[in-house]
Amino acid sequence: MEQSVTFLKPSLVRSQLATEIIGRRIIYFRNIDSTNTCALEMAARGVPEGTVVIADEQTRGKGRLGRHWRSPPGKGIYLSIVLRPRIKVEFLAYFSIISALAVAETVEGLSPFPPDIKWPNDILLHHRKVAGVLVELGTENDLVSYLIVGIGLNLLQKEEDFPSELRGKATSILIEGGKVFCREEVVVKLLQNFDHWYKVLLTSGATPIMQRWRDYSHHWIGKEVKVVTPEGEFFGISEGIGDDGRFLVRKGDGELKEVWAADIVSLQEVNK
Ligand code: BTN
Repeated sequence: MEQSVTFLKPSLVRSQLATEIIGRRIIYFRNIDSTNTCALEMAARGVPEGTVVIADEQTRGKGRLGRHWRSPPGKGIYLSIVLRPRIKVEFLAYFSIISALAVAETVEGLSPFPPDIKWPNDILLHHRKVAGVLVELGTENDLVSYLIVGIGLNLLQKEEDFPSELRGKATSILIEGGKVFCREEVVVKLLQNFDHWYKVLLTSGATPIMQRWRDYSHHWIGKEVKVVTPEGEFFGISEGIGDDGRFLVRKGDGELKEVWAADIVSLQEVNK
């Protein structure tokens, strides 16, 4: 039997939100191709910083590295935030890091145990992905003119809502904690956490952010990993992240590799 979908109430989010920057404007769709695609178009047309595009369902949700993000109606949080920081492209990694932090803190408030962040911004519960972040941008002369942070969080999915190829790899807050949370409340918390870390980055720089990020990702240090990059893959021991947000891996021959864009696979998990 088809389950009925409870639609999100953006007015409830607006009335509960206590933020300075994020969520100044909230644009809601019941159904859209991708909130990131929509936010990119709106940013190019000049919507203000802090605008949030949110949808109940995405038909062409985008994941990292060209992948698809499954976005069934009413089950998850699918939203994109427009930012306009005056930064050079080389500082982009920090936005990925604050996004992961905001999502991890939100998940921690919903789950019986804390999540783990897998570089750069996968949020895991029991080694399965519960949320992901896709950062896209528009540039002009080496400067960022706008930046879109897209967040997908699996909230109400049951095991059978995931296709067979994702079972064992993806999870939801409902699966892990057995609780049904109100999506509006989760969106409010997520936007507030993001607002907090964005202001920390603008006012205090990266140091407090990197410290907090390492709290959530220390399990990865010293682990044998496979690094899958667009150019190929290699193996090594993880040394965590550098101060600029790059992932550091020591190869068997002693060379330290600094990685910008990749998927990290823990060999311990694979071999279990
Ligand atoms: C990942 O691969 O881990 C990133 C997933 C990001 C998904 C979100 S859902 C809202 C926003 N709109 C998209 O099309 N993608 C992001």
